[in-house]
Amino acid sequence: MKIVITGATSGIGRQLAMDYHAEGHEVYALGRNEQALEELRSHGLSTGKVDLTDKEATLVWFSTLESVDLAILNAGTCEYVDLPQFDSSLIQRVMRSNVESMAISIEAVLPLLRKSATGHLAAVGSSAAYVPLPRAEAYGASKAAIAYMINTLRIDLHQENITVSLICPGFVKTPLTDLNDFPMPFRISVEQASNYIRNGLSKKRAEVHFPKRFTVLLKLLALLPSPLWTKIGSKMVK
Ligand SMILES: NC(=O)c1ccc[n+]([C@@H]2O[C@H](COP(=O)([O-])OP(=O)(O)OC[C@H]3O[C@@H](n4cnc5c(N)ncnc54)[C@H](OP(=O)(O)O)[C@@H]3O)[C@@H](O)[C@H]2O)c1
Repeated sequence: MKIVITGATSGIGRQLAMDYHAEGHEVYALGRNEQALEELRSHGLSTGKVDLTDKEATLVWFSTLESVDLAILNAGTCEYVDLPQFDSSLIQRVMRSNVESMAISIEAVLPLLRKSATGHLAAVGSSAAYVPLPRAEAYGASKAAIAYMINTLRIDLHQENITVSLICPGFVKTPLTDLNDFPMPFRISVEQASNYIRNGLSKKRAEVHFPKRFTVLLKLLALLPSPLWTKIGSKMVK
């Protein structure tokens, strides 16, 4: 398969790129960090240096490819809100990095997926979007927007035979979560995350969520009445 992975210079995306490459696929690993891209090239991967919030640069880079079988749109960031300050610039930054860049990537890659007989679009959201979590006004909202965008695209692309998957990880140990200053239940390694994702995508699952002991718990908590969840959630605030 010809596979494009965004956010492949670090964490989950890097592990996926290395694992798909080891399986013998033709992998295009995207990111901005030149040193990390160089390291990926030294392992034999093809790379692209693109800031995915830059629409023109992203469209130009993708136009150099002829077709893509699997696109894993994984690039993203996280910032938490710290009340009493509600900083709208923080919300804008996270929406730009997570939602706008996702939309730009989809615009760029969709024509290439249409040229594949087995086009598969996979987007990395988060299990954080299942329930309102403390301080996640920006991150959770961005991942909820991605979930809606991707779940809607699945319906609209159904007639075109393009598979669309939403990936919802729980906590995974990466440079992103190393910055968190709160307990992260059931945190798994990038190797485990890559195994879950590659297995779920090989089965063309609509939603790939893991680890189940965490994500199923969140899905159940989402069923609680809002006043009860508010009480529980407010106790989680440090
Ligand atoms: N780790 C978790 O527990 C967890 C849980 C749920 C969901 N997720 C999601 O999984 C994805 C990967 O997270 P991670 O933990 O692996 O994070 P990470 O180690 O910080 O990696 C983030 C990647 O995204 C790239 N990126 C960010 N903004 C970009 C932009 N504007 N243009 C191009 N590339 C950009 C970074 O590239 P450069 O460094 O080269 O700039 C980097 O390769 C994210 O979408 C995150 O929200 C993670």
